Amino acid sequence: MRTGIGLGLLVLHAGSVLAVTVPSSAPSNAAVVDPSLLSVSIEFFTFPAYTQIKATTNCLDNIAALRGAQPAVRIGGTTQDRATYNANLATAVNYTVASPADAPASLTFGPSFFTLASQMKGSVIVGLNRQLNNQAATRAAAIQAKNTMGNLFAIELGNEPEFYASNSPIIPSGQSWNQDTDAASEKSWFTALSPSVGNIFQGAVYLSWNAGGQLSRIGTDGIRFLRSISRHSYPQSACGGASTNLPNLMSHSGIVSYTRQYQSEAASTHAAGLRYFLGETNSGAALWIVDYVLQGAINGVDRLYFHQGTIGNCAYCFWGQSSVFTPYYGVAFVSEFLGTNGAKVAMLDDGASAIGVYAVFSSSNAPVRLLVINTNYFDGSGTRSSTSVALTGLVTSSGTKQVKRMTAPAATSRVDQGAAVTIGGVSSFNSDCSRAGTQSFESVAIRALLESPCHDSLFAGAIRK
Ligand SMILES: *[C@@H]1O[C@H](CO)[C@@H](O)[C@H](O)[C@H]1NC(C)=O
Repeated sequence: MRTGIGLGLLVLHAGSVLAVTVPSSAPSNAAVVDPSLLSVSIEFFTFPAYTQIKATTNCLDNIAALRGAQPAVRIGGTTQDRATYNANLATAVNYTVASPADAPASLTFGPSFFTLASQMKGSVIVGLNRQLNNQAATRAAAIQAKNTMGNLFAIELGNEPEFYASNSPIIPSGQSWNQDTDAASEKSWFTALSPSVGNIFQGAVYLSWNAGGQLSRIGTDGIRFLRSISRHSYPQSACGGASTNLPNLMSHSGIVSYTRQYQSEAASTHAAGLRYFLGETNSGAALWIVDYVLQGAINGVDRLYFHQGTIGNCAYCFWGQSSVFTPYYGVAFVSEFLGTNGAKVAMLDDGASAIGVYAVFSSSNAPVRLLVINTNYFDGSGTRSSTSVALTGLVTSSGTKQVKRMTAPAATSRVDQGAAVTIGGVSSFNSDCSRAGTQSFESVAIRALLESPCHDSLFAGAIRK
């Protein structure tokens, strides 16, 4: 590490040098950060089981403590379209599966489902069934949600309808199913249900269709029923034998270009007066999460709801029955970077390399923390590469800055396989997601830091003034 390049300059390591200027106030392209920018989605059928796990409360509370606001929650997914409300069911859900690792092909749920949902501390979106075309059951569920949940933000009607089987009851026989017919169907359901629950719907809920395309199709007399538009985003699929590629997933420049695809529909959604959410997303990589959450904000995404699937059978989950998984380290790290005073965020690099540099600004537009991410893939063998980052424009009265580092032995390191993924030098979480150990800062003189990769994908340094 070289140091001492004069006041206001930060140099990190040898090798190539990335020069970045830190603006003294938020630039005009800085994005406003929603207090619940990093939120969670929980698969419908298993939501009641999640409420019985200590880690659910602790993992969400940790984010709330770091951000000063509870993460929001969306309850939904594929099984919302397999679920039928039964007002007489004594339990929250009822279904049978051959193996605990399976999701049910069919289920019923009762009023206490919404009692559990009402106990979530954050604002909640509930996903209900449209595919089975049982509007009476969905109306009864929506009314129960509305009457039970003081924290209800919105209701979805159907999940990823572009994947409905052609024999789904919602598809009239002989009719083709496409975005036009789906938009007409959603609009007719909003129209039918709004007299019972109000204009509190979340529209689109698409994975592959352009969510902004729903706005033009339903028009202003349809948009009035909505609070938000949801798009689902999975940068890589492991379904159906598809192969995944971690170096591509974790690449900073790759994340920048991937996330940009949502910019225009976010803008058209905001222009319509609605919130724009990535209502279901994930990949299961910690360093990816850090970069992707910030790119989401920069491209106009108000909240990203990271999906949590079947407990014990979930490649991307943040936590399980009695474990905290590697992605959660990225969650905690980016949450600490945004902090309780992070109001706006800006990317300071050009988005074209493996190194990401971000600044977060206070509500008075002062830079309060910097984040440097090194997404160069390191498989753990041989010598890890390094990159120097020279940050100019920093102001310091004390002559030192405090740096907190998230790192791991390799990009592929996994906590659940015993790897030493650390934040501030310690493994940071107990198996129930309560905080563990005492994180420490590294103190740097005219300052510096940055080495290479790490973890599920990761390595990064948050530099605080
Ligand atoms: C629960 O579901 C099973 C089928 O999975 C059914 O046989 C049973 O009657 C249901 N129980 C109630 C109370 O609805």
